[in-house]
Amino acid sequence: MNSKDLSYWYEIAKPILDHPEYQKRKKYMHHGDTSVYTHSVGVSLRAFQIGKKFNLDLKSLIIAGLLHDFYKTPWQDVKEHLPLFKRHGFTHAKDALLNSRIYFSEYLNPTIENSILRHMFPLNKIPPKTKEGFVLTIADKLESLDLLLSKKSLLLSLGVRI
Ligand SMILES: [Fe+2]
Ligand SMILES: [Fe+2]
Repeated sequence: MNSKDLSYWYEIAKPILDHPEYQKRKKYMHHGDTSVYTHSVGVSLRAFQIGKKFNLDLKSLIIAGLLHDFYKTPWQDVKEHLPLFKRHGFTHAKDALLNSRIYFSEYLNPTIENSILRHMFPLNKIPPKTKEGFVLTIADKLESLDLLLSKKSLLLSLGVRI
């Protein structure tokens, strides 16, 4: 990514990144030792890059990437045993949307809202309504896959096969 793109990304992302409630996501673990903050920044940058290639709404992609996992409670803190469809994987997208409306309503629009709500497609069966929403689901999965692959290569370098 060139510096002009990066500075555009940062201009849009900065007010969200700097918000004290968003800063707390540095302490929410996503998977392994990656925080929700780091994961979401990665997804936002990736969605932005893909969106540029297809001439999509970049501002919406940047914001949706940052907020797609902005749920209230770290999933590791949910101790009660919930039925499958009430578990984090199925519920956090809606939770992230409701929480985003509380803290960042002025940054939302229908494309961003629907992208956040539908980002767990196809685990959640209803697909996103917009191309931006599809890009977000892909960026999220690529980002998570990258993490897994980097872990795998790290473990392989130590002689551990997974
Ligand atoms: Fe998510
Ligand atoms: Fe995610």
